Amino acid sequence: MLPAMKVLIIGGGGREHSLAWKLSLSPRVEKVYCAPGNAGTALLGENVPLGITDTEGLLKFARAEGIGLTVVGPDDALAVGIVDRFQAAGQRIFGPTRAAAQLEWSKAFTKDFLARHGIPTAASGSFEDVAEALRFCAAQSFPLVIKADGLATGKGVIIAQDAAEAEAAIREMLEGGRFGAAGRRILVEEFLRGRECSLHALLDGDSYVLLPVAQDHKRIGEGDQGANTGGMGTASPPPVPLGEDVERQIHTTIMMPVLRGLKADGLRFHGLLFPGLMLTAEGPKVLEFNARFGDPETQVILPRLRNDLLPVLEAVVDGRLGDIKLDWDPRPAVCVILASRGYPGAYETGQPIHGLAEAAGPDVIVFHAGTKPGPEGQTLTSGGRVLGVTALGATLAEARARAYEAAARITFDGCYYRRDIAASSPLG
Ligand code: AMP
Ligand code: GLY
Repeated sequence: MLPAMKVLIIGGGGREHSLAWKLSLSPRVEKVYCAPGNAGTALLGENVPLGITDTEGLLKFARAEGIGLTVVGPDDALAVGIVDRFQAAGQRIFGPTRAAAQLEWSKAFTKDFLARHGIPTAASGSFEDVAEALRFCAAQSFPLVIKADGLATGKGVIIAQDAAEAEAAIREMLEGGRFGAAGRRILVEEFLRGRECSLHALLDGDSYVLLPVAQDHKRIGEGDQGANTGGMGTASPPPVPLGEDVERQIHTTIMMPVLRGLKADGLRFHGLLFPGLMLTAEGPKVLEFNARFGDPETQVILPRLRNDLLPVLEAVVDGRLGDIKLDWDPRPAVCVILASRGYPGAYETGQPIHGLAEAAGPDVIVFHAGTKPGPEGQTLTSGGRVLGVTALGATLAEARARAYEAAARITFDGCYYRRDIAASSPLG
């Protein structure tokens, strides 16, 4: 067997707890560090009090501890070029370079990429000037989608029902500084109708492998009402199967042209590419790209992976994906996010969480997101999305029932979750 190693995971949310959990099961992982981590990752290894964009601090730590592989969770770390810095220093790291990750951190860049390579997406225009954006809107039909160009934690998207709403959103972003630098350039986009799904693909520079498809629930409210969030719950596979035709189209109209496009543009993408798709009547279209694992998609994908994750991530880094055969648990998984009251707006933190041990079970994993260890051994809330309760079941209905039973055992002041995650029809 290859030698064991220490791994460092950058980030501190549910996605990172899932990665830490899965890597801690590897016989080749000696110790899992997480920077900054949360109360869940603290139980699996050691948390390191460093920020996710503290590239120099993280590099110093990785060198001093003799880390064998660093895994980047969040997009912000990719956008500041942590992968480039680690690579230049000879440290192995999982994730795309800053240039390749531009597919996530600039929506305008992505739109150009999609157009250049003939990949289906919503028609759009990109603007820095209010008057130009308004002129463009006047020639379109509503609803229209107004988006901040940069990273805005899933919240920089406004669906405008009429010209007045569009104008307000455009002014707020370009003149009012909402979303800061991320909103200095905006995109005005055609509204696509259909079902959304999250596609996860591992890319090793030359080839890709798809992971099982997941479905997120982005809105805060049941029946997909209210503000957009980072994601309130996931199912894998989605409640309504994609079907063979759509699966084939995903390869031929999206993934294969994406791979060809990356190569043609001289971008070697090593890491996880997550296209958000809308399954429209005209076929699947790209809503956006993420250059990292989804959160909470990872919480339903990794529990279904039977392989040791470490060699899979190493194969991506080393350009050897062809050597890997992924083996999936056929059982569906459902993850329900427990959030703090008020999220995605303002919320309180520091609330003690009860029932964590009671909720866990043979086919139930409670992933921590916004949690921190308290002074007396308790677990306290520390973020908007607090926990992700994942369950596996023989059927999606069983996984769903199990996830909700477990979620009901957990309490904290202001705990909120949607009751319709993975329901085949809203509130079903
Ligand atoms: P994005 O960050 O671009 O994925 O957008 C966040 C969410 O806004 C998506 O998950 C969709 O639910 C919604 N959205 C974004 N763009 C569109 C569009 N062109 N048509 C319809 N819904 C959209
Ligand atoms: N759940 C959506 C995302 O990770 O962007």
